[in-house]
Amino acid sequence: MRRADPIGIFDSGVGGLTVAAAIRRVMPDEKLLYLADVARQPYGTKSPRTVTRYAVQAAEFLVGRGIKALVVACNTASAVALEAISERFPSLPVLGVVEAGAAGAVAASVSGRIVVAATEGTCKSMAYERAIAGWRGDSRVTCIPCPLFVALAEEGLTDGPIVESVARHYLAPLFDGSGGEDCLVLGCTHFPLLADALGRLAGPKVRLVDCAQATATLLVETLAGCEAPADTGGGLTLIATDAPERFSRIAQRLFPTMDEASRVELADLF
Ligand code: DGL
Repeated sequence: MRRADPIGIFDSGVGGLTVAAAIRRVMPDEKLLYLADVARQPYGTKSPRTVTRYAVQAAEFLVGRGIKALVVACNTASAVALEAISERFPSLPVLGVVEAGAAGAVAASVSGRIVVAATEGTCKSMAYERAIAGWRGDSRVTCIPCPLFVALAEEGLTDGPIVESVARHYLAPLFDGSGGEDCLVLGCTHFPLLADALGRLAGPKVRLVDCAQATATLLVETLAGCEAPADTGGGLTLIATDAPERFSRIAQRLFPTMDEASRVELADLF
């Protein structure tokens, strides 16, 4: 692994930029190479077999560009494809986001009643239930598929009456105060973009947990001894598998401080 090589990151779209932003905050000298597989999004409604194929191809592409570590900034791909990626690249450090989100939930919840808002694929995989039970046996996890949140984030629509109405549709019955739920895991990397609306709906007693910060912290530990030299200068390269102008427009709107979002490369993975 070469210290000056970038860290590869991928997601189906803009969601993984929430993880990239957290990584930049803690490791400003690292170069980041971000791939958005927008041609094939959403991942969350597809079968594990298909998501695994897409995720391995995304990893192959990034490894081909030269990376020193890979962050799977997508819960759906982390839930079903992490093993396949690690088997394909046994010497590459590969981090997913589900373990980090689950650890955050266990730390944040007092009652052990935890709601996970995620994609259909993540919910079906039971990855959050397994990871949370590994740390806290008496927890009760309710995983709710919220597929429209992905489309809202990809539209750059992150708050307001439409978002509130969709959030109520999926989540209101879980936060009526009767079940003692005290933690809402944003179990899809797109969902932190809607955090204000989701936080209002869940109410002040509910802690919101997202996996971005915890993943960035884990990456610091993973790269210990292999950090970028201070003169590398950081920077973010963005690549999309379709419609780079659209990706650039939405990324700039959602992440106004990411200057690099004005230039997005186009790449084919298949
Ligand atoms: N952001 C991804 C996740 O964390 C995928 C969303 C999608 O493409 O459905 O699951």
